[in-house]
Amino acid sequence: MYRAPRGTFDILPEDQPQRRFILDEAMSLCQLYGYQRLDTPIFEDYQLFARSSAGGTDVVDKEMYVFEDRSQQKLALRPEGTAPVCRAYLEHGMFNWPQPVRLYYWGPTFRYERPQAGRYRQHHQFGCEALGDSDPALDAELIEMAERFLARLGIGSFVLYLNSIGCKQCQPGYREALQHHFAKHVDELCPDCRTRLSRNPLRLLDCKRPSCQAIAATAPPISGYLCPDCRSHFESVQSHLARLGIDYRLEPALVRGLDYYTRTVFEVQPDHEAAQSALVGGGRYDNLVEQLGGKPTPGVGFACGIERLVLGLSNSGVVVPPSPYPEALVASLGAEAKGKGVELARQLRDAGIGAIMSTGRSSLKAQLRQANALGARYVLIIGEDEVRTGTVMLRDMAANKQETLPADQAERQLRHALGSTPQR
Ligand code: HAM
Repeated sequence: MYRAPRGTFDILPEDQPQRRFILDEAMSLCQLYGYQRLDTPIFEDYQLFARSSAGGTDVVDKEMYVFEDRSQQKLALRPEGTAPVCRAYLEHGMFNWPQPVRLYYWGPTFRYERPQAGRYRQHHQFGCEALGDSDPALDAELIEMAERFLARLGIGSFVLYLNSIGCKQCQPGYREALQHHFAKHVDELCPDCRTRLSRNPLRLLDCKRPSCQAIAATAPPISGYLCPDCRSHFESVQSHLARLGIDYRLEPALVRGLDYYTRTVFEVQPDHEAAQSALVGGGRYDNLVEQLGGKPTPGVGFACGIERLVLGLSNSGVVVPPSPYPEALVASLGAEAKGKGVELARQLRDAGIGAIMSTGRSSLKAQLRQANALGARYVLIIGEDEVRTGTVMLRDMAANKQETLPADQAERQLRHALGSTPQR
């Protein structure tokens, strides 16, 4: 028997209400803040991601699903959504639109990671990006949005971590300071970090191995290396957050797992769980559009993992309304009755009443059991007698009552009954 590939999962009907709830909240949030939906393909040119993380990150170097298509084009399943948004921004000349351009996306994302709770090889992200403006008020807007989103979902008790990782001007000085610091402990570093040391020392702050984390804990903080522009940008982001009443914790070791970030970076973690369970991650990426071949264009955004939000809903005890039940089931006995039933079901649907046609040749008892299992409140029964007399039996499952009606009145009577039935 085949099974879904490791690290992937089916989203069953019973899983849909929570995801639907999250999507509805995401869409109404985006409307509130003026973000428009953009859907990009789930695979892109491999180089798009390779160039966006040229310094080297696990997401791009080790976790990407890379393949060649039949014309030997090297493609990758998207490991994240920001580079594709920047690609679409350039491809569609969005730099000519009024700036900033505010966009959001929702869809599957692929990373070859070791699966565990809340970490999958195919997960789904909801993300927001604002391109074309470096105003720190925009950083604060995205953080406020992420926070409001979690609050609207009812996910409580989380912590917002904030840092600035500088820009092209000041990052090189900090990288040098980190190299100097970590070089003193090179023998204690894991093999990955030894490689990262010369190529991308910021990544050493992000290593999850306890031995490397211990050395990272004594590394100099970036705050001492920010240039005046980055420092004032960061102060301004913080003062906006203070005005908005948003609590945050400064986390000097927060560098994020992708390489394109500049200045503001942030993450939202549930406050009761260990690292690796971020609900939201984001930040500014002022060099990315240029790296992808465009003019210098600042950008800032965030993304959250839908599966982690689903876990968050359960952990916070949020109860989501179930999918609506079908309103009626049409049951029939015998070939002639089946024909009448098919017609009646169509007539009900024409009138906007959800009707499920009972198929096969089950007994009436079995058809009533099916109605119960589906949660249908009403069953319309057509048997041999009803065919002969041109009638339909309307059964109210909850009240355990039934009445016989002329067939041509069944729809009107059902509509009336539904109008007076409390919504479940
Ligand atoms: P990221 O932090 O790599 O950032 O991913 C965003 C979110 O996706 C994470 O906070 C987490 O909730 C979820 N996530 C990531 N990997 C997995 C996984 N394997 N299984 C389940 N959930 C996962 C980005 O991707 C950036 N593009 C975010 C961004 C937007 N930065 C600026 N704009």
